[in-house]
Amino acid sequence: MQVNTLIIGAGAAGLYCAAHAGPGTLLVDHARAPGEKIRISGGGRCNFTNIHAAPQNYISQNPHFVKSALSRHSAADFLALVEAHRIPWHEKTLGQLFCDRSAKDIIAMLTSMVERAGAALWLETSVVDVAHDGTHFRVTLEQAGERTQVTAQNLVLASGGKSIPKMGATGFAYRVAEDFGLPVTETTPGLVPLTFSDNQMAPLAGVATPVIARAARGPAFPEALLFTHRGLSGPTILQISSYWQAGEDIAINLLPGAPVIDQLRAQRKGAGAKSIASVLGGLLPRKLVDVLLEDWGLGGNYADLSDKALQDMAQRLGDWQLRPTGSEGYRTAEVTIGGIDTNALSSRTMEAKAVPGLYCIGECVDVTGWLGGYNFQWAWSSAHAAAMAI
Ligand code: FDA
Repeated sequence: MQVNTLIIGAGAAGLYCAAHAGPGTLLVDHARAPGEKIRISGGGRCNFTNIHAAPQNYISQNPHFVKSALSRHSAADFLALVEAHRIPWHEKTLGQLFCDRSAKDIIAMLTSMVERAGAALWLETSVVDVAHDGTHFRVTLEQAGERTQVTAQNLVLASGGKSIPKMGATGFAYRVAEDFGLPVTETTPGLVPLTFSDNQMAPLAGVATPVIARAARGPAFPEALLFTHRGLSGPTILQISSYWQAGEDIAINLLPGAPVIDQLRAQRKGAGAKSIASVLGGLLPRKLVDVLLEDWGLGGNYADLSDKALQDMAQRLGDWQLRPTGSEGYRTAEVTIGGIDTNALSSRTMEAKAVPGLYCIGECVDVTGWLGGYNFQWAWSSAHAAAMAI
């Protein structure tokens, strides 16, 4: 069987690429349904883009790589499609756009676009072998025990990263890329809860509070922190997890807003005979206050705290230093950091510089977005760039 383009992976990037690449395209996936990660994304409502998506929201060894694709097919372009398909949506916060009804609306839009474009979609199809004969890609596919030889002018790797192996994530794209001589940067789980030893956080499991958190490198993220049985989660922790490296501390400002010392001094006025725990309990979840005060060996009346003691407390609350022992890993990570080295790809087309006709798009590339719709936008933008070049 001969096709113009074979796309491996019918996730966000593969579907979008097939929708724009048109007839002569075969899209294959080993899963039973296309777009499985879209279906579970955003709590079932798919945070399908972020209207503020810009290069600074992405992590890559080459931070300039995303510029061309993002500018040529932006969040506004994807939103225009969503509106043309009459999918109701809303902005939740910080430019994050979600479906009003269900993520299934996005999958239905993409599959209908693929169909209208005249591309074929084969599900429950595994890739047995990928080779190149000097002019064409020769790929052996297997479906229900039957093998098909496909000859393709272009091969698009869109099989995602390693996150959530239970959903079929395999790291397949990295192996094929390496077979063709493309370097792959180190991969680690990203947007993932951080863990601590000895159930250190377990007494606080379920407690949530707004904070500003930062890893030793990378920006500070002002969002919610959630304590879990195994450690820390919540948007702010998922964000910094993408920058955190084993052995490094994270820093948390538990009292974002005005300078912490000003907030603590302001509490002195009405403190009267109130305990430290009760005053701090007005600023932070009481359970957290109790654990912190026990840890610091602090008690007594708030009004009795010296200025020096308040300064120390401000330092501790404003710059709570913690050392995670690890992360929940690919089992729950939303994305994979690292991937196919962008130096090996054209930033305009996603085509491998050394292998004409080989394209890499979406999460398998060393481009990882922040939490908040940025990763899907990368899938759309990179897929569109490849489709326009095919
Ligand atoms: P994706 O993983 O979507 O697709 C890869 C496809 O390739 C899959 O269909 C897989 O079955 C197939 N495949 C893999 N190996 C294969 C093989 N060997 N042979 C054949 N097929 C193969 N992002 C965001 O912007 N907003 C959000 O709301 C969320 N929410 C979210 C929630 C959860 C729980 C997760 C895990 C992730 C998110 N994300 C997200 C991240 C987002 O899902 C991710 O960035 C994109 O799905 C990446 O799109 P890709 O198409 O590159 O890979």
